[in-house]
Amino acid sequence: TTLDQVENILKPLDLTDDRYRKVMDLLKQNLDEGLHPDTHANANVKCFPTYVRSVPDGSENGDFLALDLGGTNFRVLLINLNGMEVTMESKIYIIPQHIMLGSGDQLFDHIADCIFKFMCDHKLHDRTLPLGFTFSFPCRQIGLNRAILTTWTKGFKCDGVEGRDIVELLHAAIQRRGDMKNVHCLAVINDTVGALMSCAHSDRNCAIGLILGTGTNACYIEELSSVKTWDGDNNDPKQVLINTEWGAFGNHGCLDFILTDFDRSVDKHSINPGKQIYEKMISGMYMGEIARLAIERLRKHNLLFEGEGSYHLSTRGRFYTKYVSEIEGDDVDNFTVTKQIFDELELASHTEQDCRLVRHVCSLVSKRAAYLASAGIACLLNKMARKEATVGVDGSLYRFHPFFHDLMMKKISQLIRPNLSFKLILSHDGSGKGAALVAAVAARLEKKEQ
Ligand code: BG6
Ligand code: GLC
Repeated sequence: TTLDQVENILKPLDLTDDRYRKVMDLLKQNLDEGLHPDTHANANVKCFPTYVRSVPDGSENGDFLALDLGGTNFRVLLINLNGMEVTMESKIYIIPQHIMLGSGDQLFDHIADCIFKFMCDHKLHDRTLPLGFTFSFPCRQIGLNRAILTTWTKGFKCDGVEGRDIVELLHAAIQRRGDMKNVHCLAVINDTVGALMSCAHSDRNCAIGLILGTGTNACYIEELSSVKTWDGDNNDPKQVLINTEWGAFGNHGCLDFILTDFDRSVDKHSINPGKQIYEKMISGMYMGEIARLAIERLRKHNLLFEGEGSYHLSTRGRFYTKYVSEIEGDDVDNFTVTKQIFDELELASHTEQDCRLVRHVCSLVSKRAAYLASAGIACLLNKMARKEATVGVDGSLYRFHPFFHDLMMKKISQLIRPNLSFKLILSHDGSGKGAALVAAVAARLEKKEQ
């Protein structure tokens, strides 16, 4: 029957709890491999120590510049910290596609130009401002402001940056301009670290930073004694934030048991095949495309739109992740938004039944994403075993999807040990505030040393 056919095509997207529990076990193993020097080199989940050792204590002060690169928007920010009060101004600058895929020097020259414009607009050129750089890509850090890009992820691929210290590249570009002598980068952080720091500023229990946006990743607070790859000092507090880079989980094939044809196709046509496997099943850069492939499969079997597709529907990347959120948020009594999207895609005819089925596809794809991310968080919560822990979350997927938060609350509760409790809290402006908070600590240390 038709129903059986639909069921057959979509079944692989619907995973049972024992699959999610297996994902948790595998992630736990992968985290341990990343943290240990004997296994780190071959580990998928790198667990990079960040050199951020403590959460803010509310005494951070001063004006800071921040850069936010790697999410939907590139931004330059000016942040004022005054105890618990934080004010900021920011501006979005466009990074054209040809720069995202061009040379590293072009990228950093462009970034330096944007900083310069921002400083002129805000009349800052005669001031000396410490800068915090939120750089949301995997980096091996060898100091708070020394970060070597291991590999580009998401939509970036600039030549000559992998294997290089991005702060050196930024400073070199600033030097090339020659007119911004007083901008100095004191700290590089990942966006997950920003989310954690910003959330911890008001919630002392915050112990995990999670991003569900263009990409996905998490960081958490780890005991220094468990970080066998740590080569920094052993002063108090005996802990360090670990940037897991969990997006790369599955790169060696350990998640193959849950991959669908749709996932394999998304991976194959990406700019980084074989990489970021877990990320490709979860994050905003890929979710719409997974849904599109499932919809197309149903259509080709005459199970949608009377078998009639459209140019747009058969175009890779054209079914945006925001459609998934919009369709799931739509009113099922009239499907106004869904029909509008179908019109945008120039689908000639569509029935109420089509609306219902497309919505079902979207909800399967987003539910799987939310549950996979939940398995990741549950794994970290179990590992840390804090009685109460808060997770600071940021990213467009989490912000704009109507049920992501609720789905995660439900699944994490089912997957964690019963004696643990947790909260998921939206983290505000982590990439700006977090970078400034870390730069503030660095500035204080620098002063002490002088
Ligand atoms: C934002 C940050 O709030 O969250 C970004 O400013 C960060 O830098 C982002 O990377 C993640 O979400 P997205 O959806 O922009 O990739
Ligand atoms: C990608 C990046 C990672 C970042 C995440 C969310 O996974 O590699 O560094 O945190 O996207 O933006």
